[in-house]
Amino acid sequence: MTDQLPISAPVLRAVIAGTGSALPRRRVTNAELAETVDTSDEWIVERTGIRARHIAAEDETTSSLATDAARKALEAAGMDASEIGLIVLATATPDQTFPASATKVQAALGINDCVAFDVQAVCSGFLYALSVAESMMRGGAAKAALVIGAETFSRILDWQDRATCVLFGDGAGAVVLRAETSAADPADKAARGLLSSRLHADGRHNELLFVDGGPSTTGTVGKVRMKGREVFRHAVVNLASVLGEVLAEAGLTPADIDWLVPHQANARILDATARKLDLPAERVIVTVDEHANTSAASVPLALDVAVRDGRIKRGDLLVLEAMGGGFTWGAAVVRY
Ligand code: COA
Repeated sequence: MTDQLPISAPVLRAVIAGTGSALPRRRVTNAELAETVDTSDEWIVERTGIRARHIAAEDETTSSLATDAARKALEAAGMDASEIGLIVLATATPDQTFPASATKVQAALGINDCVAFDVQAVCSGFLYALSVAESMMRGGAAKAALVIGAETFSRILDWQDRATCVLFGDGAGAVVLRAETSAADPADKAARGLLSSRLHADGRHNELLFVDGGPSTTGTVGKVRMKGREVFRHAVVNLASVLGEVLAEAGLTPADIDWLVPHQANARILDATARKLDLPAERVIVTVDEHANTSAASVPLALDVAVRDGRIKRGDLLVLEAMGGGFTWGAAVVRY
């Protein structure tokens, strides 16, 4: 027996080694949209905060945007593609029904053998992918992973439906995760990487946000359908609740947060979430004005923007969150 207090051993965590993102070449403003859709810049800005979005050309696909984002993330991490043992790609708009777009990224990066698959949780896809990758890394499946969110939602929009087509855009964001040992207590500033994460799904709300087609039903790709007002209501409640859960799990409070990196669906949802956390607006990364809602790509895209413009620095405590069709929702606490 000894009188010494137990010192908890360091634990293996998934640390963000680098970030990257990619946007289609074409930027489309609200005014440009209003030329073909019965809407106005004023309506879109007032209800959503969106001013522009990027729309993929024919030669730009989910996997090509994902590959560009992944290359930049590898470069930022100072790593070679050959070091990657796992690729998890979150998307609701894969290039094809199969193969998984993750395997297309793998081939484009010249990785001949690694684990590669897609995750489908719509706008929460990146949070799901991050959690899946981290669990696999902690289980020893890979020492380094690419986690990507990539979408070409423009391909599944009904351009006659003004209630949905003005809200979405295309893009991709990626992070390289590296398995590293760090302090066991998430509240310890020496604890780096993914410190806690929570995921949820409630399939009772399928009909509030869905695509009206698919291989096993219509045999077509289908178009996005949404009851916007109800989605908004659920989003604010679910996000506030899951943010409380991940912070509690990490033993942290909203006052510890350096940056909230939220899913970029609507500026009003971001404001409401920040208010519930009592977090000043300056601590929220906002890209919805320039990207619109890029679904699974939105969180890693926003993260990369804020890392590259110098706002997010090493050691900062980040909270990521998202909510999407299903419904699915989730949040993660990360020390960058
Ligand atoms: N331009 C102009 N008018 C539009 C329009 C557009 N693009 N889209 C809808 N309208 C009209 C509607 O037809 C309706 O007209 P009416 O009152 O004559 O019937 C009016 O604007 C109000 O529509 P409503 O849907 O009630 O507006 P809202 O205040 O709820 O705002 C959203 C709509 C979509 C912006 C809002 O509900 C929202 O952001 N929801 C969350 C969506 C979301 O985040 N989804 C993704 C989650 S991952």
